[in-house]
Amino acid sequence: MSSGKGRAIAPATGKLGILLPGMGAVATTFIAGVEAIRSGLVKPVGSVTQTGTIRLGKRTEKRSPLVKDFVPLAELNDIEFAGWDCFPDSAYVAAKKAGVLHYEHLVALKPFLETVSPWPAVFDQNYVKKLQATHVKTGKNKMDLAEQVMKDIESFRKAKNLARLVMVWCGSTEIYKKETAVHQTIEAFEQGLRENDPDIAPSMIYAYAAIKMGIPYANGAPNLSADFPALIDLAKKTGTPIGGKDFKTGQTLMKTILAPGLKARLLGVDGWFSTNILGNRDGEVLEDPESFKTKEVSKLSVLDEILQPHLYPDLYGKICHVVRINYYPPRGDNKEGWDNIDIFGWMGYPMQIKIDFLCRDSILAAPLVLDLALFFDLAKRAQMSGIQEWLSFYFKSPQVAPGLYPEHDLFIQLMKLKNTLRHLRGEDLITHLGLEYYD
Ligand SMILES: NC(=O)c1ccc[n+]([C@@H]2O[C@H](COP(=O)([O-])OP(=O)(O)OC[C@H]3O[C@@H](n4cnc5c(N)ncnc54)[C@H](O)[C@@H]3O)[C@@H](O)[C@H]2O)c1
Repeated sequence: MSSGKGRAIAPATGKLGILLPGMGAVATTFIAGVEAIRSGLVKPVGSVTQTGTIRLGKRTEKRSPLVKDFVPLAELNDIEFAGWDCFPDSAYVAAKKAGVLHYEHLVALKPFLETVSPWPAVFDQNYVKKLQATHVKTGKNKMDLAEQVMKDIESFRKAKNLARLVMVWCGSTEIYKKETAVHQTIEAFEQGLRENDPDIAPSMIYAYAAIKMGIPYANGAPNLSADFPALIDLAKKTGTPIGGKDFKTGQTLMKTILAPGLKARLLGVDGWFSTNILGNRDGEVLEDPESFKTKEVSKLSVLDEILQPHLYPDLYGKICHVVRINYYPPRGDNKEGWDNIDIFGWMGYPMQIKIDFLCRDSILAAPLVLDLALFFDLAKRAQMSGIQEWLSFYFKSPQVAPGLYPEHDLFIQLMKLKNTLRHLRGEDLITHLGLEYYD
């Protein structure tokens, strides 16, 4: 029962190259997981593209295919990996250092992980203060560095005989930056690249290289990266899908699950105090106040957008929202996040909710990298370009069109994602109205 013809989508034939600037904990856990799934060692837990289903038509039709059978996605066996890092470690060495994976998985996946080694990075210590990089590109200016990135990509394309490429930023969080004049037009940005403008961050150089080549770009960190007019316009011109920012995992994931529920029942919130201990390299980078500021802005926006205090001043007008991250090496990648939520109900009576989430950051982030890579590749084959708001499901701080507020509610985001897939295939959108069952 379909509403129309849907959109022409080029088939996913040939190999897909996934480019990863930043081959640390998240990227290596992602690569290891894909290889483990391909080898039949594990199941793709947490991935909408691999495990999710999508309901089509009326409930009485009982049509719920797997997402990957409904839209043409690249097969896991057709994926090749490459990346850049400011340390020369292979994916095996980096995964071992990251300490996410158990020994048995590391041993089983070692032969494959050793085949993936990073190119030297485009790196600037001013943007990530805590890292002492040893594996970096040199060039006469930032444009030269962007061209070197494009050459790396081209050599990978040829060497692996790739049909398509997609880039997902998995590098460290850069210091907090706002847009300046250099970010407003592509002409100003390209001139800034040639003149080494200090406001052009390394992540912007990778994003520029990808978008210029028409390669979809997804940003897993909260850095501006491709979230400014110059690169958004370039993406439209080169027919490139882009999106970000900051993978939605851990504490923010919990917030965007819980806050919509409290709001649905119109329970008030006086305060939400969130604190974390984290001992991986990401935690170390975030110990620098300037990198933490970027993360904090990304994390703080979520509650305001979900609770809409301007519409519900009596319930959410005075909320005190605090977020802390403490670097605590003994925990490694196994973060512990505590939330204390002060809520109130009927007649203003106070109540409290406590969450203690013993999570594994990279285990939560890895399936998002896979889904983003496959959906961004789908978007490109469906001729969708510019900001892909339908993929905000995956981000803490979703990139949206100018003038729009981002949608943070995880369930609305999922509905938006699935309705976009239905729209692409010409299936009826699901409104959950359901009156027809009672006519
Ligand atoms: N793990 C999660 O749940 C999660 C959630 C949201 C966002 N993130 C973000 O994802 C990113 C990766 O997280 P992670 O845990 O893998 O961190 P990580 O520190 O283990 O890995 C980041 C890697 O990026 C490299 N790097 C830094 N600058 C680079 C550059 N300019 N070019 C190439 N490589 C560069 C570092 O050397 C490091 O190996 C971070 O920005 C983090 O904030 C992670």
